[in-house]
Amino acid sequence: MELSDLILNNIHQNSALKDYNKITNDKKVYIETYGCQMNYSDTEIVLSVLSDFGYNETTDINDTDVILLNTCSIRENAEMKIYKRLDDLKKYKVKNPNLIIGILGCMAERLRKDLLERKKMVDIIVGPDEYRKVPHLIDKSIETGEKGIAVKLSRVEAYDDIMPLRKEGVTAWISVMRGCDKFCTFCVVPFTRGRERSRNFKNIVDEAKRLNDEGVKDVWLLGQNVNSYRYEGKDFSDLLRSVAVAVPGIRLRYTTSHPYDLSIKLLETMAEFNNVCKYIHLPLQSGSDRILKLMNRLYTVRQYMNVMMAARERMPSIGLSTDIISCFPSETDEDHKLTLDVIRQVRYDGAYTFAYSARENTKAFNMQSDIDEETRKRRLE
Ligand code: 5AD
Ligand code: SF4
Repeated sequence: MELSDLILNNIHQNSALKDYNKITNDKKVYIETYGCQMNYSDTEIVLSVLSDFGYNETTDINDTDVILLNTCSIRENAEMKIYKRLDDLKKYKVKNPNLIIGILGCMAERLRKDLLERKKMVDIIVGPDEYRKVPHLIDKSIETGEKGIAVKLSRVEAYDDIMPLRKEGVTAWISVMRGCDKFCTFCVVPFTRGRERSRNFKNIVDEAKRLNDEGVKDVWLLGQNVNSYRYEGKDFSDLLRSVAVAVPGIRLRYTTSHPYDLSIKLLETMAEFNNVCKYIHLPLQSGSDRILKLMNRLYTVRQYMNVMMAARERMPSIGLSTDIISCFPSETDEDHKLTLDVIRQVRYDGAYTFAYSARENTKAFNMQSDIDEETRKRRLE
């Protein structure tokens, strides 16, 4: 038998097994998603993986076989919310001892030890690159009563062959790349989601076409660092162009971009196509060059402003939004005022503003910070 026959055989057996599971099992999974759009998109991947093993999503937490929380670690309060939620979930486990509770996402990666030791009701812990294993870990936990853990980060996993199980509607997300290599000194993402990797170019364009056939009207191309997409010599503007041409009836947007990778070529592609929304979310983080350097953001305020100006020149009515962190270690009132200056100059249409939260393992974690609570509140406001 040829190798290709063997592989084909294997695929057939696998799909036969999946069909068998679908027929014989009718299990229910309840899932809550926290954090960024990437997490919501990942939840659709997990639901797709689980559906191949006979699971249907339920919105009734009182009548389910599995409860999953897809979690976020970006700031301390995001993690606190999950710890509290886990305490709430105890009662469901008391009512139904066979219930499986699982933690997915960034907290699974960052806090596995703590979760294992302190949160006894957690049965499975699965990081962002191991979602293919979720059904097996559930089965094994049911069989053996042991906790299942899969938290390896991958350099290649992009779930390229998995069609996310989306809810019906006019909007859909397509995740085009995963991970981040930028290592901003405040951010846990490179540690919880691993190295950057991009999905196959053609598969993304095909996915957009399929969504178009299904009646979707609004698509977001997603990535932790979406505009550093690279696949076989093609960059993010090449991808945006190909998708825009392939689905002229769909409105396209993308998030989140990094100022360092926002090229003039990308702006020109945006300007060229009517179906690309004239909108960029471009995190500034700080308006002080000294703080930007400490943050390892790889641009100066002047470079950032040049990108903004170039965007407005080509698309005068463009919508602009941003992320800002206040009170990064050593930030002075002077630094803070420089941030306000940029805000006044750009006149953003929207901004997500955060108080700096120290995250273990990041470089900034060891930077001295003695900004008092009152100043923290004032600057954030
Ligand atoms: N503290 C506060 N805000 C943070 N962000 C990322 N890490 C932290 C942190 N440690 C913010 C940044 C980023 C957004 C997604 O979250 O502004 O752009
Ligand atoms: Fe975090 Fe910076 Fe990567 Fe964004 S670019 S995910 S803030 S490390």
